[in-house]
Amino acid sequence: MSLKRNILDLRKRKDEVLKGGGEKAIEKQMAMGKLTARERILYILDEGSFHEYDMFVEHVARDFDMDKMKLHGDGVIIGTGTIYGSPVCIFAQDFTVAGGSLGLMHARKITKIMDHSLKMRVPLIGINDSGGARIQEGVNSLAGYGEIFFRNTLASGVIPQISVILGPCAGGAVYSPALTDFVFVVNNISKMFITGPSVIKTVLGEEISMEDLGGAKVHAEVTGNAHFYAESELECFEQIKKLITYIPWNNTQKAKAIEPAKPTFKKKIENIVPVDAKMPYDIRDIIKAITDNSDFFEVMEYFAPNVVIGFGRMEGETVGFVCNQPKVLAGVLDCDSSDKAARFIRYCDAFNIPIITLEDLPGYLPGVDQEHAGVIRHGAKILYAYSEATVARITVIIRKAYGGGYIAMNSRHLRADFVFAWPTAEIAVMGPEGAANIVFRKEIAEAEDPDAMRQVKIQEYKDKFANPYVAASKGYIDEVIEPQDTRRILLHALKVSANKSISGPKKKHGIPPF
Ligand code: HXC
Repeated sequence: MSLKRNILDLRKRKDEVLKGGGEKAIEKQMAMGKLTARERILYILDEGSFHEYDMFVEHVARDFDMDKMKLHGDGVIIGTGTIYGSPVCIFAQDFTVAGGSLGLMHARKITKIMDHSLKMRVPLIGINDSGGARIQEGVNSLAGYGEIFFRNTLASGVIPQISVILGPCAGGAVYSPALTDFVFVVNNISKMFITGPSVIKTVLGEEISMEDLGGAKVHAEVTGNAHFYAESELECFEQIKKLITYIPWNNTQKAKAIEPAKPTFKKKIENIVPVDAKMPYDIRDIIKAITDNSDFFEVMEYFAPNVVIGFGRMEGETVGFVCNQPKVLAGVLDCDSSDKAARFIRYCDAFNIPIITLEDLPGYLPGVDQEHAGVIRHGAKILYAYSEATVARITVIIRKAYGGGYIAMNSRHLRADFVFAWPTAEIAVMGPEGAANIVFRKEIAEAEDPDAMRQVKIQEYKDKFANPYVAASKGYIDEVIEPQDTRRILLHALKVSANKSISGPKKKHGIPPF
């Protein structure tokens, strides 16, 4: 064959594969409001940057008439490309081909690109849209999942791993996303569950829709399995691209810095916190008052909103924020918010992202529900994550810092590098009201006017403890700062921490309260 004919033959073969599962299946995909696997990849990556591999891979199954079946690309597309010039590895399951179900060769394609991303130390993006283990391929499908989970774990903390749920992700398949760093979901499109509605109906006799069982909102708000929620696939792709700009390619690098910029937030930082310490405010206003361009890219916005986490930039460099949110449950720590904060702290630590903690909380949430849900175990995660983190860690105590909450939110005692406090900070074992009722119980009970005496004692306690100066006198906080100086002081602390280098005792690994 002449070269020209060879090329024509190659093009013909490629065109055939590009048909995916065929017109009807693509129409069905579109009718569900979904893009095709290839369209998704092309939307996420820089124009013209996608290079596809293993296009001609075929399945090798022979049972259940599979030998008569042609499955283009075996239901998954893999390749490399760039996002704003940064290289990434990517795979996208193609639901139009046998429901994106995972058989032996499908899994081999995924594990090939996973190995590549780990070897090349670049982020991995996986788009999940699949009916799960390919039923006809039996144990080979299960083996495929095991190979993926093993690699997810191996790559954890080495390269960023991003999962995008754009269709069903059912049964054991959900454990790959769960092992990755960030999970993206889209309203009405993402469905994630271990056992589907039909199994639930059979076993428990309960009727539930896929949406109510494991739709995007469920995972963004209730389970905490999702980190980013979007209303459309295109919005989701913009979120992915934005995330890529905030994180490094791997754990030996820092995120790329961008042009420094001043905050643009209109409100003055000194006017954000209400004078009355019982009044709420939005901690995100303080973040926006100090970050470059007042930009804040929130992670897990809708789950456990009493703690706010996310990325911002200070003089062009990425920082992670871990903050109490006084607007929700007074910013308490509970099971979910502890999990949320702890995992993010570990992410930032693994990928060389300094952590700024903004603190305003009355402590851990009291109550039987929390105790029985394991607030001891969950609450310990945040202590562990901070104590273990070796990146620069800076705390600003805005207002309340009571009890275990004071210790947990990156206190000096957990080896924060810098602890600053606003003059409004109240650092004590517990709030003045509760403390006065316990410490001065006798005097209050015996007083002629117990209520008046209680107020006197609360004030006495406030004057003595509910301020930053007792902690400052012991060196537990480094500096009491004026709110309007916060950004300048943080920038300096970040600058002097840039080459921080510490190491702990030699060990195989710790045993965190998972
Ligand atoms: C083989 C599958 C498949 C599967 C879907 N298909 N899932 N083929 N193995 N697991 C095929 C269908 O036969 C169909 O082929 C095509 O994909 C499209 O599927 P539909 O059912 O027509 O689509 P839809 O109505 O949108 O329903 C999607 C679905 C449903 C809800 C995902 O297909 C479904 O329930 N699939 C099975 C889900 C499941 O139980 N998976 C196994 C989970 S256990 P044709 O040729 O008709 O177009 C598991 C264990 C992993 O994953 C354990 C790892 C540790």
